[in-house]
Amino acid sequence: MKFFQFKSFFVVYVLLNLQTQYLVVGEPQVPCFFIFGDSLSDNGNNNDLVTRAKANYMPYGIDFPQGPTGRFSNGRNLVDFIGENLGFASSILPFARTKNTQGSESLQGVNYASGAAGIRRETGQAKGMVISLDRQLRNHEYTISKIDRLLGRNESATRTYLQRCLYMVEMGSNDYLNNYFSSPSYTTSLLFSPEEYALALIKQLSSQMKTLYTRGARKVAVFGVGILGCTPYATATYDTQGSPCVDRINDAVQLFNVGLRSLVQDLNANFTDAKYIFVDTYQISSQGPPVSFTPCCQVKLSGEQCDPYGKVCGNRSEAIFWDGVHPTEIAIMALANRSFNAQLPSDTHPFDISQLAQLKLP
Ligand SMILES: *[C@@H]1O[C@H](CO)[C@@H](O)[C@H](O)[C@H]1NC(C)=O
Ligand SMILES: *[C@@H]1O[C@H](CO)[C@@H](O)[C@H](O)[C@H]1NC(C)=O
Ligand SMILES: *[C@@H]1O[C@H](CO)[C@@H](O)[C@H](O)[C@H]1NC(C)=O
Ligand SMILES: *[C@@H]1O[C@H](CO)[C@@H](O)[C@H](O)[C@H]1NC(C)=O
Repeated sequence: MKFFQFKSFFVVYVLLNLQTQYLVVGEPQVPCFFIFGDSLSDNGNNNDLVTRAKANYMPYGIDFPQGPTGRFSNGRNLVDFIGENLGFASSILPFARTKNTQGSESLQGVNYASGAAGIRRETGQAKGMVISLDRQLRNHEYTISKIDRLLGRNESATRTYLQRCLYMVEMGSNDYLNNYFSSPSYTTSLLFSPEEYALALIKQLSSQMKTLYTRGARKVAVFGVGILGCTPYATATYDTQGSPCVDRINDAVQLFNVGLRSLVQDLNANFTDAKYIFVDTYQISSQGPPVSFTPCCQVKLSGEQCDPYGKVCGNRSEAIFWDGVHPTEIAIMALANRSFNAQLPSDTHPFDISQLAQLKLP
């Protein structure tokens, strides 16, 4: 088992240029990083899908070295920063790129995230195809069989390997914006009160988290949903009733976040050989600098995404929102950093991602 034990490591940051683009040399803190999520994490999985939820066109990626890649950002996204903090030299590849290769890239982890996707299967489908969390979990099964083959079809070696990985689940925003608050395309708001809907989402996520556990995940970071009612899209689309944000959206989202936090506590109590943490995205994002409701890029009529080849604001490091719903690279970096190294005790529960990564499990 020595091979799998954590060694001390050195992370050397080499400053490449003034845009805080850095290369990390050395061993990452975990051997592998698996990502389940939506557009905050998608790095190309939607590019080949028939959907309006894609971002592989300018001005997306205007500040990213490879230009537009499918990231819903002007630059790097949430998981790019978490990966950098973990010490990975390059971004974890999207499943769309690893599924047809037999190489060893999947050993570093895979990114399954899909823009517009949610906990519920129908979420986001009014925009076209999406890879729901259930599908993402099935895609992970495929990766596991590949890892098993790469490790010589040794069940105990595969299990040990998968236990050392970090898993991140960042879901729920679209179950609100691209489902509950999108009538008449969706009927959930007629069928459920906000309380009932949050409960239903948590119940479904609880069973999905158990599936992830049975597939070997033992270190899992779960992200809550942010202040969706304050996005430029929400304030332009719904009646704010004189408030700066759409309070009924924020209130509904907070019911989910409260449930998610206690789900994480229950999972820790029930699965004692695993560790789960909750990242309080809502709390972290409500403490930033004053929110400006102006997206940096010129957005489409639907209010969510940038107009292809549309205008962008001059100084991207002064804007919070890149398009109608997604933060700029600089704003998402702040969330990523605080999830990795909590600044306030309330940022993460019961501890942060860096502690989760270093944790020695039985
Ligand atoms: C399987 O891997 C374990 C390490 O996890 C090792 O101890 C064992 O010898 C391996 N078994 C075979 C048949 O290679
Ligand atoms: C934890 O276990 C209790 C008691 O068996 C059960 O009622 C609850 O649903 C479980 N929760 C989770 C999230 O596994
Ligand atoms: C952009 O804004 C940042 C933060 O306010 C500031 O430090 C920087 O000088 C600005 N850059 C330009 C080119 O105006
Ligand atoms: C985030 O962390 C990185 C690396 O530790 C640091 O260079 C950067 O300034 C931090 N950014 C913010 C917004 O906190």
